[in-house]
Amino acid sequence: MWDETLFRDPDVFEIDYIPDQFNYRENQMRELSFLLKPGLKGGRPLNAIIKGTPGTGKTTSVRKIFSDLDDIDSMMVPVQVNCQIENTRFSILSEIYKKLAGHSPSAAGNSFKRVFESIAQAMIEQNRVVVVALDDANYLLVENELNKILYILLRSHEAYPGTRVGVVVIISDMEVDLSREIDTRVRSVFSPTEIYFPPYAEAEVYNILRERVLQGFYPGVLSDEMLKLIAAHTMSSGDLRVGIDMLKRAALNAEMGAEREISREHIRAAYKISKYVHLQFSLRSLSKEEKDVIKLIAVASASDEQLTTGDMFEKVKGELKIGYTTFYEIIQKLDALRLLNLQYKEGRGRTRLINLRYDPDKILLYL
Ligand SMILES: Nc1ncnc2c1ncn2[C@@H]1O[C@H](COP(=O)(O)OP(=O)(O)O)[C@@H](O)[C@H]1O
Ligand SMILES: [Mg+2]
Repeated sequence: MWDETLFRDPDVFEIDYIPDQFNYRENQMRELSFLLKPGLKGGRPLNAIIKGTPGTGKTTSVRKIFSDLDDIDSMMVPVQVNCQIENTRFSILSEIYKKLAGHSPSAAGNSFKRVFESIAQAMIEQNRVVVVALDDANYLLVENELNKILYILLRSHEAYPGTRVGVVVIISDMEVDLSREIDTRVRSVFSPTEIYFPPYAEAEVYNILRERVLQGFYPGVLSDEMLKLIAAHTMSSGDLRVGIDMLKRAALNAEMGAEREISREHIRAAYKISKYVHLQFSLRSLSKEEKDVIKLIAVASASDEQLTTGDMFEKVKGELKIGYTTFYEIIQKLDALRLLNLQYKEGRGRTRLINLRYDPDKILLYL
């Protein structure tokens, strides 16, 4: 059984796979390249905001441009930071330092100021400019981290004359209005150009998935009719990652049944899981404490009519050793991640209503 696989190349369906064929984003990539161009000759790259719902090719577009920049001889050093993982000033600056110096900043106890000083020194010594892409920067909205890092990066020339930094802010949450989130000190040096990544049309989804099928499966594994069915499910979820995940799961389902071809039933079973890719990725990014809090909320939501932050804190307090401030920060982060929605309640002071955006059972399942 082990060598009876339907996959010609399983990597094609992995989340970090960079496809050779990458269509429909030519305009956005051209526009971003144009903004960054001054950096090639040592000028300051122009700032950009990239906006679009999840699965519209933002991360991949930037990775492709940055890897091209790595391959050519220029004065610009590109650094792409995944803010879902690196979500503090210190860790973001450490990533930039690593790229410039080729190794991590020395030992613990280092402050972000020291790291930034080393970055500035390296930029001046190597005569380089830096462009930083803050990918999924909506994760930095908690505790005002985005303003703090933008302030350091964009005003670097004031503290260290001769340094030049451009920033690309990537936002996946269409409800975030950056002009409201950015404070005045940052605004005066930011002035980004916005590049929009619209959702793919059904024909585009179909073509992108078809390309993966040709590369990743052996011939005959997925009929055109079944591919159309997967494309339709992908459209209703609105996220291309759901489609790619479905291809993989449907093929695994077929393998499990020792069948050579993916059926409607394999797809149906795959969709039941794949449609929650967003939930899975968001939950995976949480700390232990944050997971504990959302778990308690999910349990309470399954029974309670309407949860408030006040009631919820009473329950949390008994189970976890955290204070109200920490609790409230966690709740705000879960809101920023679109796992739940906080709503003001008339005349109840700071108390807010908590509504989970997913079925509590699904949250508990994926936790
Ligand atoms: N135009 C495209 N052609 C081929 N694959 C694509 C295209 N756009 C997105 N993808 C694939 O879809 C998935 C999600 O893309 P990604 O760049 O991570 O989107 P975003 O960052 O906007 O959420 C990735 O696996 C990526 O390879
Ligand atoms: Mg992305």
